[in-house]
Amino acid sequence: MKIIKVQPRGYCKGVVRAIQIAKQTRLEHPDKKITVLGMLVHNQYVVDALKCLNIDTIEDKTKSRLELLDQIDEGIVLFTAHGIASQVKEKAAAKGLICVDASCPDVLSTQAIIKNALADGKHVAYIGKKGHPEAEAVLSISPTIQLIELHQPLPPLATPLFVTCQTTMSTSDVLAVFQEIKQAYPQAEIGEEICNATRIRQQAVHELQDVDVLIVVGDKQSNNSTRLAEIGRNHGIPHVLLIDDAAQLDLTAFHDDDVVAVTSGASTPSQLTAQVIDKLNGEPMKPLDLTRLL
Ligand code: F3S
Repeated sequence: MKIIKVQPRGYCKGVVRAIQIAKQTRLEHPDKKITVLGMLVHNQYVVDALKCLNIDTIEDKTKSRLELLDQIDEGIVLFTAHGIASQVKEKAAAKGLICVDASCPDVLSTQAIIKNALADGKHVAYIGKKGHPEAEAVLSISPTIQLIELHQPLPPLATPLFVTCQTTMSTSDVLAVFQEIKQAYPQAEIGEEICNATRIRQQAVHELQDVDVLIVVGDKQSNNSTRLAEIGRNHGIPHVLLIDDAAQLDLTAFHDDDVVAVTSGASTPSQLTAQVIDKLNGEPMKPLDLTRLL
């Protein structure tokens, strides 16, 4: 079996930064209760590793961040890398919580661009995933922002129009929607905001040649991980697997002459990907150490 370790893969700078902020917060407040409002980054192993630092996570996909906040009554609330609505920050402060914001700078940059467009009198349309925390934070900026979901008919859009997107979308998906909007609204201004980490991980999958199997190591809740798998399928790779960890890898499904590419989402710890590669190579897997995962 030939194994291609796709580069770049794994943690992006926004995830590294968010984890660093969480660790630093624990260091500075050794005795305080710390709760992350939602998953700090979309990977369950990271959530479990934070638990080793006595940092709790509350998550409920049926609830908004504003509603989730009702479950935190003391200590420090840590906002995730996906960005947070100002209303949530205000409510947390009113509850007397100490707020620590681990929002990725790239997400904040998109939010700033949207605010500027609104201030310039533009109507904003945002291509994103309904219910995703990043989209939730963006939509909280103004009730006038229109969410455009992929694979849905284009709704009527107000003009003058500024269109942008969630940072972890597929570049080709977003481009297709931009083109559709440009046809219907030739004057529309386009601001593509896919972050560089997402773009170069996707590009690396696009560039794969003659691969039989693509393995994406990542949590199914991670938008950028699921997009990598989707890009692999659209690229014509015959078998694409999205797995959380090496335990989900079934070696009996592989052939000796398979060319197998391995990549991972921007929120996937490198230890998990290393275990998958070890297993593919038939080498003993190094045991997972949650305390060294972060
Ligand atoms: Fe930020 Fe992009 Fe990572 S938005 S958290 S750098 S995937």
